[in-house]
Amino acid sequence: ALNLRHRSFLKETDFTPAELRFLLDLSAKLKAARHAGTEQQRLRGRNIALIFEKTSTRTRCAFETAAHQQGAHVTYLEPSGSQIGHKESIKDTARVLGRMYDGIEYRGSSQAIVEELADYSGVPVWNGLTDEWHPTQSLADVLTMWENTDKPLHEISFAYLGDARNNVGNSLLIAGAMFGMDVRMVGPESLRNAPEVVKEAQRVAETTGARITITEDLREGVAGADFLYTDVWVSMGEPKEIWDERIALLKPYQVTSEVLAATGNPRVKFLHCLPAFHDAETSVGAEVLARTGMKALEVTDEVFESSHSVVFDQAENRVHTIKAVLVATLGD
Ligand code: CP
Ligand code: NVA
Repeated sequence: ALNLRHRSFLKETDFTPAELRFLLDLSAKLKAARHAGTEQQRLRGRNIALIFEKTSTRTRCAFETAAHQQGAHVTYLEPSGSQIGHKESIKDTARVLGRMYDGIEYRGSSQAIVEELADYSGVPVWNGLTDEWHPTQSLADVLTMWENTDKPLHEISFAYLGDARNNVGNSLLIAGAMFGMDVRMVGPESLRNAPEVVKEAQRVAETTGARITITEDLREGVAGADFLYTDVWVSMGEPKEIWDERIALLKPYQVTSEVLAATGNPRVKFLHCLPAFHDAETSVGAEVLARTGMKALEVTDEVFESSHSVVFDQAENRVHTIKAVLVATLGD
């Protein structure tokens, strides 16, 4: 078996394809044990710091429940609830927390911060989302796809529609490449993954056999896809003022019943990392929807609530995959 002890998870390429596969298999095993009531605690006595400089529901709760179920303790440091980055440097914070904790989760803006924490803390650091990457999300996404089809991983195709330049778009592209999948990034040219991210995906694809398509053409992009995936059109930390521009660019890529039908695959499934703006109930969504006269943003309520939607399986899988990362990097 592979040994990932003491390793950090800052982005997908920190692990080899075989190591990511090991984490996926471990996630499935831990999920089965949890559901069967036979979970064994492998993190008893460990202490984990959870630093959130941006808000979170799933990632925070998944780290907390995964840690508790495995017997570990957590300390939650809320956005601006610490000295971190304001009164004390990341370098000093890393060296302090590394003396107290066995591992550190960090969510914030800059990838450089999570890297600095890993460099100076001396303990495993896990990226709970930065502007560039969301690696614990992509692991849960691949697990969800794997569970929702009979196909082996390398035969699965998925199309990501929308803002491909955000953390989720980057992580999905690289994760799809690492797992040898058929990856289609579908959206306007100005919101494509940065050239160096595409290059990295293509480099990985040469070793794994993944197929990478980057296209503006919605019909070409979704044809035959097993999964359609979208994310919010404006991410945390981006200015509110860009909503109108994003809507203009991304409206044609809204996931509707017509887009599901355009896959030609009656068994197509819908994924979303959440939170999603699919109705007028959420505050940000409500304001934008009222102003623009739209009924939904990245996905219609009809698709979100349909039998094609596996978004809550996907949300649950955040726990099992994060638990696998914790157990593999901190367990005995
Ligand atoms: N998908 C995800 O990361 O959700 P949170 O922002 O609620 O953690
Ligand atoms: N792209 C989104 C993901 C939220 C989980 C954001 O960064 O806000």
